[in-house]
Amino acid sequence: MINMAIAPNLENYEQARATFKWEEAEKEFTWNKSGKCNIVYEAIDRKCEQGAANDIALYYSDGDRDEQYTYEKLQKLSNRFARGLKSLGVAKGDRVFIFLPRTPEYYVAMLGTIRIGAIAGPLFEAFMEKAVKDRLEDSEAKVLVTSPELLERVPLHELPELKRVIIVGADEVDEGKRQVAYQEIMRHDSTPIVEWLDKEDAMMIHYTSGSTGKPKGVLLSHYAMVHMYISGKWVYDLKPTDIYWCVADPGWITGTSAGMWAPWLNGTPVVMRGGRFNPEHWYETLAKHKVTVWFSAPTAFRMLMAAGTEIAKKYDLSNLRHILSAGEPLNPELIKWGMDTFGVPIYDNWWMTETGSSVIANFPALEIRPGSMGKPIPGIEVEIVNNIGTPMGTNELGNLAIKPPWPGLMKTIWNNPSKYADYFVNGWYISGDSAYKDEDGYYWFEGRIDDVINTMGERVGPFEVESKLVEHPAVAEAGVIGVPDPVRGEVVKAYITLRQGFHESDELKEDIMNFVRERLAAHARPRIIEVRNKLPKTRSGKIMRRVLKAKELNIPTGDVSTIDD
Ligand code: WTA
Repeated sequence: MINMAIAPNLENYEQARATFKWEEAEKEFTWNKSGKCNIVYEAIDRKCEQGAANDIALYYSDGDRDEQYTYEKLQKLSNRFARGLKSLGVAKGDRVFIFLPRTPEYYVAMLGTIRIGAIAGPLFEAFMEKAVKDRLEDSEAKVLVTSPELLERVPLHELPELKRVIIVGADEVDEGKRQVAYQEIMRHDSTPIVEWLDKEDAMMIHYTSGSTGKPKGVLLSHYAMVHMYISGKWVYDLKPTDIYWCVADPGWITGTSAGMWAPWLNGTPVVMRGGRFNPEHWYETLAKHKVTVWFSAPTAFRMLMAAGTEIAKKYDLSNLRHILSAGEPLNPELIKWGMDTFGVPIYDNWWMTETGSSVIANFPALEIRPGSMGKPIPGIEVEIVNNIGTPMGTNELGNLAIKPPWPGLMKTIWNNPSKYADYFVNGWYISGDSAYKDEDGYYWFEGRIDDVINTMGERVGPFEVESKLVEHPAVAEAGVIGVPDPVRGEVVKAYITLRQGFHESDELKEDIMNFVRERLAAHARPRIIEVRNKLPKTRSGKIMRRVLKAKELNIPTGDVSTIDD
């Protein structure tokens, strides 16, 4: 049976676009009276005060555990955690990083941290030692919350600023090693605790990759809640009667902004599924929790498509109202697959870690234009501009740009104001994506302008991979690019030269791939390695990824006047 459409939260997009002001949405939050705010209060505590204390806020399952959390329970648990952090000396503005598998404790730690005005740093569980170290070091994290397994990837001796490590799921901890048990932290009492903040105060840092240098700490403020709330309401079209599953890991922006804040701010219960990707488990999760709105990414849809429609047919998925997609281009073919398999539309939406929440979308209130990202969120001005920040005409390919400010826009890049400044040209935020706008105002994604790789919807910085590759004893130089892949969007490809005494072999390539996987992250591992005698370089010695990419794709190399030879 196909779920009949119910009226979307945003009924008249064009009208809202013409008239909506963010101040309207701000009125729905408490600060209007007090002048101060806290996203945790709005997402959790206020729901309790408004009579939803005993409503389910979170359904969790992973094969072993099967749990439900009401708003009140999350409130109490996060109060305990917050008080535990205070007892460790954590204060407003301190960084508390969370490096855990996808479990309810991840959310409890996030909520508890942000509740007391500390800044949460969510990490992805697939990160290996180098990735973890770079992030904890750059942010000067004071506390880390992790599990006994993941602790092995934390180089404590290199992190003097890290005062305490809270361990979830350990029977015993080693206090000499700055450890404290989660259950100790949770002994603190659950009476309410909230730090009242200015709306521009920092809320969380998500590290993300650029084309050069180490990952960037994108700092979001409490004010982003207004944007996340509106995305939840209009783009994801969430209602308190929905059951919502966003599969993204909280280590990525989609997993926090769209995975927890947007739904809770709208009073919509969230499903969290632990464990790895598995088509059977995924369909089982949709059926078991009677999910009505499901948020995932094109790579996952392609993997499900490859697993065959028969699996989907075994489960009752009739509660689904619609599906959402972000992170990579959503091909029209997938929209058709969604319709055929589930009988519901897949709505694409475009945004970035830096934008805090969705910016362009195919709204449930609009007709989908398959292959396009859709239209801008009311309240946000989007343009296609040239390299000096001048708006371009319809159907002209250029830089996808946004007019600052808007509530979700990052406050800065942690420790790196010049990187932050680099985003802005002539009063526009430049996304780094190229796109064009059609006659009807729909935006069409073309590609990245810089060298950032998008594999399975996850951002990989070529520089990080190159730096890791040249640490391998056999690798002299490395140039890393993304190459198109039918399932993953792009995959990481490394061109390398070998040090003297090493010879090309499948074994060696395998060893190099594993080296990156075990020290940086699985998703950053090159899936293809090509050995060359030399790599194209500028006279100043910088490897020209652009030339490698042009050769790979058989397109013109462009200006090579700075090439070495
Ligand atoms: C890409 C993920 C095409 C884009 C939310 C952007 C997309 C980068 C879309 C940000 C989309 C995101 N269609 N491409 N709907 N959504 N992207 O920071 O290149 O992990 O710049 O945020 O993903 O990735 P990030």
